[in-house]
Amino acid sequence: MSGPSNYQPKSAFGKWMHERLPIMEMVQGSLLDFPTPKNLNYWWTFGGILAVMLVAQLITGIILAMHYTPHVSMAFDSVEHIMRDVNSGWLLRYLHANGASMFFMAVYIHIFRGMYYGSYKAPREVLWMIGVLIYLVMMATAFMGYVLPWGQMSFWGAKVITNLFSAIPFVGESVTTWLWGGYSVDNPTLNRFFSLHYLLPFVLAGLVGLHIWALHVPGNGNPTGVNVKGSQDTVPFHPYYTMKDGFAIVVFMILFSAFTFFAPNYLGHAINYLPADPLVTPAHIVPEWYYLPFYAILRAIPDKLGGVVAMFGSILILFFLPWLDTSRVRSGTYRPIFKQFFWVFAIVCVALGYLGSKPAEGAYVFWSRILTAYYFIHFIVILPLLGLLESPKPLPPSISDSVLAKKKPLAPAE
Ligand code: HEM
Repeated sequence: MSGPSNYQPKSAFGKWMHERLPIMEMVQGSLLDFPTPKNLNYWWTFGGILAVMLVAQLITGIILAMHYTPHVSMAFDSVEHIMRDVNSGWLLRYLHANGASMFFMAVYIHIFRGMYYGSYKAPREVLWMIGVLIYLVMMATAFMGYVLPWGQMSFWGAKVITNLFSAIPFVGESVTTWLWGGYSVDNPTLNRFFSLHYLLPFVLAGLVGLHIWALHVPGNGNPTGVNVKGSQDTVPFHPYYTMKDGFAIVVFMILFSAFTFFAPNYLGHAINYLPADPLVTPAHIVPEWYYLPFYAILRAIPDKLGGVVAMFGSILILFFLPWLDTSRVRSGTYRPIFKQFFWVFAIVCVALGYLGSKPAEGAYVFWSRILTAYYFIHFIVILPLLGLLESPKPLPPSISDSVLAKKKPLAPAE
């Protein structure tokens, strides 16, 4: 997991430890000295931002759990107790709730960065696939977390999504009953969601460890997509990228604070401040913003099972992206036509998100169908064909050449 390291223990204790557990050598090799391409732009800071957000969610979540009660008759009130009585409880809760949104914002930027620069291409396929797995676990974790306050949207969201499993042929009903732990979304459901919501972030932390390991074997990609050719193309991770990532993290935290302190409920749903009532169905059941494109895909298909297959398929197809994109050139910077399709795809995803927030009727459904079809066509038709048909622009001979080419030549002396 580490790069070349010239670690030399300085103290007697350091030497003693080094002979028994060379952990400092690993820190130095994989964190401080790690050779990193010298041309990484700010889109490469989101991995670090994500790591910080995961830790922030873990810390705020663990403290919230000390005051929360996972029981249908007390969950809602225990959240109000956190908001009103627990010291800084309001802050913890708003940090955790908005932190989830910020986490997804960062992961979407991270994923789209990977798609634009072809980060998923050889030799980083496994790194990418672990990323997709992380994304799936993130979605499951956030879904179960949203159920915990036991408000109207928590309850009805849980009901709609768990009910999807009943579409599975033959065993669907049994699977749903098994998931619920009874014949409806009730106390056993809330209890197991709490247990899993506490567990899964640690699974995420383990997956992130694997992700970083798989990153450190081939090393970072870079905006040119050209391989590192030698030490002239890299700089040590510290201080160059500890500083760059650190700066980006501070800027990101300003945005996070802006939501937490000035618009803490902007990304939420007002009706989740009403206690769950199994007898009153809300007019519009809408998930959190980060699920909306998939919700639009789910509702675009007239058949329930078809909708479920399309929704899960739209995420699972990401596992195959390294093989669906047939281009030999990694970075979108040198792929003029791919670049345009990339932006069309990004706009389609945002538009699907918008459609997912609207009622499933009339023109909204019509456009959801068109855009769902396009979503899949992008992966199954456009990417494989583009790789074969497009003529990429010439690549720079090396990272250093591309960096130097950007520098304007000095004006000749008069
Ligand atoms: C908790 C979530 C995640 C964390 C903490 C995380 C962390 C990181 C870090 C620290 C890096 C190196 C710096 C960078 O390139 O930004 C990285 C790179 C990468 N990540 Fe993630 N990641 C997460 C989720 C994902 C997801 C969901 C995907 C894809 C579906 C993904 C795909 C990649 C790829 C392909 C790279 C290599 C980029 C390159 O070097 O060209 N990651 N990740």
